[in-house]
Amino acid sequence: MNIILLGPPGAGKGTQAKRLVDERGMIQLSTGDMLREARTSGTDMGKKVAAVMDAGNLVTDEIVIGLIEEKLEGDNGGGFIFDGFPRTLAQADALGELLASHGATLDRVVEMQVDDDALVARITGRFTCGNCGEVYHDVTRPLPADGKCVNCGSTDMKRRADDNEESLRTRLMAYYKQTSPLIGYYYAKGNLQSVDGLASIDEVAHSIAEVLG
Ligand code: AP5
Repeated sequence: MNIILLGPPGAGKGTQAKRLVDERGMIQLSTGDMLREARTSGTDMGKKVAAVMDAGNLVTDEIVIGLIEEKLEGDNGGGFIFDGFPRTLAQADALGELLASHGATLDRVVEMQVDDDALVARITGRFTCGNCGEVYHDVTRPLPADGKCVNCGSTDMKRRADDNEESLRTRLMAYYKQTSPLIGYYYAKGNLQSVDGLASIDEVAHSIAEVLG
């Protein structure tokens, strides 16, 4: 089964994708993670990508479609979770064509609905394990008392450069202008399902499980 997790910055896409990887053996394809990896390469392309991401704007379609294309060549395990991709109508068209060229289909598009006030609180409180990428939050998902990652035991925690109020405003604007039209696009194609992303992490996981069947 191949699915898209669609939602604004901070909707919980990465959090739920990691659960689906653990519970269903699916493969998470996060263009945000791929781009953060690319920016550490020190190449000219990496430097350009870093500046665009830190400001909260979208990287070009050409770059992200190329990244996804490479990943689709590999084993799809229990199916792909597209996390943060597609983000424009051109990316959505390209994904449909790429999947068709591999004889694959897009089975579900899960829209995670969260209001803007909650997004600000989530983004400004987020941090991740620098070793394994486990996602935490100052209030809703703090570290245990020993200060160690529940997944790998590391104490190396990181905050993203674009997780500040100014970049978030730009990211939200990009979402509403360029990405939210995908809700209508996938509704019209008949594979859109919406879940309440404001519920607890466990409750959201339960709603997604119901949608996926
Ligand atoms: P990307 O990395 O994709 O960031 P994003 O879409 O802004 O999404 P986030 O990772 O910020 O949020 P999330 O929905 O995964 O939430 P999370 O689970 O972490 O993209 C970054 C940048 O890369 C873009 O701005 C752009 O520049 C570029 N880019 C990426 N893809 C691109 C593309 N396709 N095209 C062009 N450019 C692209 O949760 C957030 C916090 O909330 C966490 O602390 C978590 O613990 C907490 N939380 C999660 N769920 C709940 C819950 N139910 N209740 C309470 N707290 C919760």
